[in-house]
Amino acid sequence: MILNFEYSSSEKIKTDGVLIFVSSDDLKTCSSNQYLSSDISTSIELGINSELFLGDYNEQKTFAISSKQPRIVHLSGLGELKDMTPEKLRRISAKAIRSIMDTRVKSLSVLIPNNLSEEFESGKLITEALSLGSYQFKKYKTDESDDSRTSEINIIILDPHQVSSKDDIERGASIARGTNFTRDLGNTAPNDLTPDDLRQVAQDLAEASEGKLKFSYFGEEKMEELGMDMFLGVSKGSEVPGRMIFLEYFPKGAKQTVAIIGKGITFDTGGISLKAMKSFLGGMDEMKFDMCGGGAVLGIMKIIYELNINVNVIGVIAAAENMPDGKSQKPGDIVKAYNGKTVEIINTDAEGRLVLGDALSFTAEHYKPDCMIDLATLTGACAIALGHFAMGAITNNQSLCNLLMKSGEETGDRVWQLPNFPDYAESMKGTYADLQNSGDGVAGTITAGSFLENFVNNIPWVHLDIAGTAWGVKTIEYHPNKGATGTGVRLLINSLENLSEWEH
Ligand code: BES
Ligand code: MN
Ligand code: ZN
Repeated sequence: MILNFEYSSSEKIKTDGVLIFVSSDDLKTCSSNQYLSSDISTSIELGINSELFLGDYNEQKTFAISSKQPRIVHLSGLGELKDMTPEKLRRISAKAIRSIMDTRVKSLSVLIPNNLSEEFESGKLITEALSLGSYQFKKYKTDESDDSRTSEINIIILDPHQVSSKDDIERGASIARGTNFTRDLGNTAPNDLTPDDLRQVAQDLAEASEGKLKFSYFGEEKMEELGMDMFLGVSKGSEVPGRMIFLEYFPKGAKQTVAIIGKGITFDTGGISLKAMKSFLGGMDEMKFDMCGGGAVLGIMKIIYELNINVNVIGVIAAAENMPDGKSQKPGDIVKAYNGKTVEIINTDAEGRLVLGDALSFTAEHYKPDCMIDLATLTGACAIALGHFAMGAITNNQSLCNLLMKSGEETGDRVWQLPNFPDYAESMKGTYADLQNSGDGVAGTITAGSFLENFVNNIPWVHLDIAGTAWGVKTIEYHPNKGATGTGVRLLINSLENLSEWEH
């Protein structure tokens, strides 16, 4: 579904449909809004007087209008205004557009409510949520008749009280575009999205950016030369070569430098420690989503210059396929990481930390960023601990983690911190090597983070485990019922926007 957004502060309603947000507090007065024609007002009054619509939270009702344009009015209930939150408004907006998509309107006016406080950034938030909520992934569907929905809606954000601006609408649309791009990458079949395909995507983004992004990558030979044997141990079992991909954004005048590193395992079979076809967390087919951290990095880099973010950002993707083969690494193998540490492979299914470790220590050494944030579908344990409603965070820098958690609150892309006591690091010490790649089976999310900490060179860092939030989030209206969510994009864009508040 394509939504095209236009901002208007005055215009009369000349679209197929109208979307109006109504709180239970102003149920009686909403139909007398001066911007609504008498046809529209009459329909709304009928709906309300007949008690079809009560204005309850997340109530969604569509009414017919006797005119041709608009021919429908859709009312979205806000409930009581005093209970309204940005996250609720996001969910309401997404549910509204899903229901409007079924009415086959080709154009829609969305009336921005004027009774919400400024901190809601209503115009931006509603635009973002409409676009996220209308997301569909149809790349592989050949039969279009299975769907009655229109494929494109022109949306006019009608803001007569000018509570927002054209720029707000553009920012909201841009953030959703980045998130939906990440969703597309996650949903793409693993035979169509190999590490080299991710490399191509990054290269294409740089080309489209007209010089604002600089692309580079390491192939396996280069990684061998650099001594990234911990990464190569993972990719050597695959027919397709691994890639370490870099996109640099260095805007003029930026003072801080942030590196964002994503796990890009384009398919995770577990390797020789082969996964079961089905576990209670899902089928092996879902391991195509094991590149969602890397996908989020690409989504962020795609929009970062449109949003004029004034921070230097280095996006890094550690891309490889984890396969069982005669050439695969085995449990018991010992590899030397880029930073010189030796690692005993206990379980070849704990591969994410191996590719990320080399990406982190190279990035730390080469770019010396002020901070590093990694995004990874790293452990099933994280999905068990937190389910689908928050990512897990491990850090060596509390104030940076606080900044991310605040962004999580603001965006609904939530972050929950787990402890990083030095005790946890004990279980990652190796018997025959400096480290081992899996611990004693408990606190798997924390010990994975603790392993990564060996590769950050003491730079302020937060590890975000997105195993639970990257796909399959069913009950949040702005996420698709199935498939990738684009988690991490909205979170980190918000954090980059607020980075100047970070005190360290
Ligand atoms: N990609 C998986 C983690 C995962 C599993 C995410 C299921 C979402 C759903 C990761 O590479 C992995 O296999 N981790 C192991 C680590 C263990 C071997 C120490 C895990 O979580 O079982
Ligand atoms: Mn694995
Ligand atoms: Zn994995």
